[in-house]
Amino acid sequence: MKEYHPPLGSRDALRLDFNENTLACSPKVREALGRISAGSLTRYPEREPVEAIVAAHLGLAAAQVALTNGVDEAIHVLFGAFLDAGDELLLPVPTYTMYEIYASATDARVVTVQAGDDLQFPFERLLAAITPRTKIVAIANPNSPSGSAATRAQLIEIASRAPQAVLLVDEAYFHFHGETVMDLIGVVPNLVVARTFSKAYGLAGLRLGLLAGPVELMRWVRRVLSPYSVNSLALACLSPALEDSTYLDWYVGEVLAARAEFEAVLDAAGVRHWPSRANFVLVEVGARHAEFVRLMRAAGVLVRDRSSDPGCDGRVRITIGTREQMRQAALALNEILAALQIKGQAQ
Ligand SMILES: Cc1ncc(COP(=O)(O)O)c(C=O)c1O
Repeated sequence: MKEYHPPLGSRDALRLDFNENTLACSPKVREALGRISAGSLTRYPEREPVEAIVAAHLGLAAAQVALTNGVDEAIHVLFGAFLDAGDELLLPVPTYTMYEIYASATDARVVTVQAGDDLQFPFERLLAAITPRTKIVAIANPNSPSGSAATRAQLIEIASRAPQAVLLVDEAYFHFHGETVMDLIGVVPNLVVARTFSKAYGLAGLRLGLLAGPVELMRWVRRVLSPYSVNSLALACLSPALEDSTYLDWYVGEVLAARAEFEAVLDAAGVRHWPSRANFVLVEVGARHAEFVRLMRAAGVLVRDRSSDPGCDGRVRITIGTREQMRQAALALNEILAALQIKGQAQ
């Protein structure tokens, strides 16, 4: 297996490096945490009643939804359930790192399809890469680190052209994008959708995600899933998080406004960036990317170097937080771009 070391370290700064919510979870979730009794912690967590709640929220049957320890566990379990020797996992790249990491724990082969310079979803080439051995097609939608998205029609076409495979649509950044294929669960027979509470909901520390799919597929997933991998604190927070749509809408609205402002800052600085449907933006920094990241850190702003991602040399991903936070980030960015003489790369 490949090793994966998240570059966490000391993160006592403006955290624009992991696409988290940069502020806080809903106050309703904090209240729910405060109500947890010592006695309740003595019990093993019961996932099923909460699965029924989240399924109802999504308009699905409880048997179509499994809660997981973050989407990472959903990916791990799905790959463990379906990928055997001789199978192929098909991935457009660059994409979320953990697909390849978890695939490397199986005997399947990873087949990647490189996006072009525009980093748009490589639809036609992905279709052409489907073979009878394709067992899973994993698509982050919107994708990280590019921020681009596949259309609903493209996803439906992929599912129908690979009926022998499971199509995983990872909607980790759904709230910022606003488009989903969740309503096609059970309609498209080989479609599964993942969602996380780590991003817009601001609960990355609780590790809470879900996988939705047709009952027959979810049966296999449940065989591999640990019965207690979602802890009782996370389970207690799920309903209050779902119910507080006011907080969620406010946070998403704030991020979208901040993204537009920050993109204008990048345009004014003459720095190339890719259109984003999520809470981050990929920025062309060029050969001095490592220095850029280091100087941003010294200025109190953490950003993520994506140079080692396929086709991303010299590119840095910057999470979008609130407008106030992004104004602080813009000040640091402009100073460092000037110090490193990075500009005029906009196209
Ligand atoms: C596309 C994508 N999927 C899943 C995850 C991880 O989600 P979770 O925190 O629920 O494991 C991330 C986190 O960065 C991501 O970018």
